[in-house]
Amino acid sequence: MNRDAGHHDIYTEVDQDNVAWLHFAKHGSSTNVLSASVLEDFYKELLDLAERAPRGLVILSDKSNGFIAGADVREFTRLENRDQALEAIQRGQEVFDRLAALPFPTVALIHGFCLGGGLELALACRYRVSRDDPSTRLGLPEVKLGIHPGFGGSARLTHLVGAVHAMDLMLSGRTVDGRTAARMGFVDHVVPERHLKTAARALILQPGSAHRASKLQTMSNHAWVRPGLARLFEHRVARKASRDHYPAPYALIELWQQHADQQRSMMHAEAESVAKLIVGPTAQNLIRVFLLQEQLKALGRGSDYKARHVHVVGAGLMGGDIAAWCALRGLRVTLQDQSAERIAPAIKRASQLFSRRLKRPRPIQEAMDRLAPDPKGVGIGTADVVIEAIFEDAEAKRSLYAMLEPRMRDDAILATNTSSIPLAELRTALRTPSRLVGLHFFNPVAKMQLVEIVRDENTDPDVVARALAFTGLIDRLPLPVSSTPGFLVNRILLPYLLEAVELESEGVPSPEIDRQALQFGMPLGPLELADTVGLDICLHVAEILGRHFAVAVPQRLRALVAQGRLGRKSGRGFYRYRKGEPVKTSLPKGYHSNPDILDRLLLRMLNETVACLRENVVGSADHLDAGMVYGTGFAPFRGGPLHYIETTGADVILQRLHELEQQFGERFRPDPGWESVSGFTNSGIRK
Ligand code: NAI
Repeated sequence: MNRDAGHHDIYTEVDQDNVAWLHFAKHGSSTNVLSASVLEDFYKELLDLAERAPRGLVILSDKSNGFIAGADVREFTRLENRDQALEAIQRGQEVFDRLAALPFPTVALIHGFCLGGGLELALACRYRVSRDDPSTRLGLPEVKLGIHPGFGGSARLTHLVGAVHAMDLMLSGRTVDGRTAARMGFVDHVVPERHLKTAARALILQPGSAHRASKLQTMSNHAWVRPGLARLFEHRVARKASRDHYPAPYALIELWQQHADQQRSMMHAEAESVAKLIVGPTAQNLIRVFLLQEQLKALGRGSDYKARHVHVVGAGLMGGDIAAWCALRGLRVTLQDQSAERIAPAIKRASQLFSRRLKRPRPIQEAMDRLAPDPKGVGIGTADVVIEAIFEDAEAKRSLYAMLEPRMRDDAILATNTSSIPLAELRTALRTPSRLVGLHFFNPVAKMQLVEIVRDENTDPDVVARALAFTGLIDRLPLPVSSTPGFLVNRILLPYLLEAVELESEGVPSPEIDRQALQFGMPLGPLELADTVGLDICLHVAEILGRHFAVAVPQRLRALVAQGRLGRKSGRGFYRYRKGEPVKTSLPKGYHSNPDILDRLLLRMLNETVACLRENVVGSADHLDAGMVYGTGFAPFRGGPLHYIETTGADVILQRLHELEQQFGERFRPDPGWESVSGFTNSGIRK
């Protein structure tokens, strides 16, 4: 058993006290995941151990980033049917049951990520010891993939800490640190790094009784209490996700309600339920989206370029938030604007962001120290990356670059956050025109994960590679796009927003328009979205794109802007705002909804999607879907717009477009790209 650590995903050492230390050390990967083959290796190791009968077993990870990050999600896409899924899940349960049944004390020694199947494994141990630091994260985030824990986790956790904490964790998918986990009751000891092994050893040499749920916690699983609690859980879930779109949390509540006092039957039900969910469309699409995210993340890891100092020019809405985000992520940041007064509001917002995210005073102070107001531009000369986020005005940007470039380091990246101006128009005043690249962040920066990396044939590929790496470094998802008007996300979003304005001006009540989009699965209705972005900004983008594409700007949008109704920021746009929230009036009595509404919104968006694919605005269909999900929140459970076209049938949508074109004119004229899309999608977008 004392094997060489280098060649095994799992190996065990036995020390002088006869304590066995089982190490997870996935070969050739920075992270431990529980693939089917790792599970089998683990099982064999457990059989060996059962025979050898050490004094106790400690399970730990050799990876610096954490314990075990969960199951191998890629394997989920290879499941062909429910029976195959059930078999795989039941095998997982058997392995963990074997662990739970070992006759000696077992300890999971947890640091960093301990998620999904990783936490389920830990829950099958008698004790859990966790490192005390904010980067140790425990959780059961399976709902985010359209399933719920299936390796016994739902049964074990509800039993161990009661339904209130257990269901909260599983239904939200949120993660907690070791201290919170200990407070909830599923971690026994939280200790600093240097005491981890001692704490684990002590639990084995002087084993106490394992943690038991308190009376109150046990009562939460009682048959009389369950129906009431189940209603409460459902109510909470329903506020965030509908049953039709996201069945997993509802299935979990149901199986808990039926089986919570019978751990065995709950495990059975758990496996059956996950097997059914995992081959369904929601889970398969969410898994697809997860893998798309991995694809974009990989782009950010393509080079070992490491930026340390970022200089941001323009401390407005975007520049201020970009600077704060970079400082939060550990970079040194200097922030420039025309005066110190203009920078002050950005620093104030940054301090709020740091408090929210970092919580403890010392890290907050350290982040504040990394962010320096720099009205004179002292930081220009030392920065690795200079990001320009001043007004959307080509002339202003060009003259700024003429001032910046001579002061910048030769190897520094010059990036613009422009949302609409092609690079070709901006680089004319540069001595080295090929160094300009677009880093197009979305508003709000701290929430929107996507950053479009804008480049054209004259952009230095090395600059692009560094821009990708920089985006990965600050934990955002980079999406390479061509420097064409509107790039990808705004170009596709705009026709959808304009159609909503069109509908509103025809007299369709705003709440009805937004309701239909929400029902489809969008995170925000188009009119509320337009109000949030600002109607003046929408108009500006519409006018710029209107010069390149045949986009007619609705008169209604111009009229609202002329009246000063700019949306949320002015207190009135399509909605009135009270305390920052839109007031949505109820529909007039006897109002009949029109089935065309959703089709009109959606098909303009899908038509533009096909145009972007045809014009190669992005590198692949997958990238396009990823961009729309992470840049606009396009209904994730539908797997992205192109995937939606594929599953609905391109011919069905094309037919509907023709009808709408007959009825409403050329803005619904099908893009020539539809002809190749049907062939394209037939060959499968999902790779
Ligand atoms: P903003 O108007 O909030 O901020 C612009 C800031 O730049 C102002 O504080 C201004 O004083 C400063 N500034 C102007 N000229 C300057 C100069 N020569 N030197 C130093 N500072 C200067 O504008 P916002 O909304 O932050 O937009 C900035 C850029 O980001 C624009 O290119 C815009 O298209 C783009 N963008 C905006 C988004 C949005 O939702 N507002 C989303 C994505 C990109």
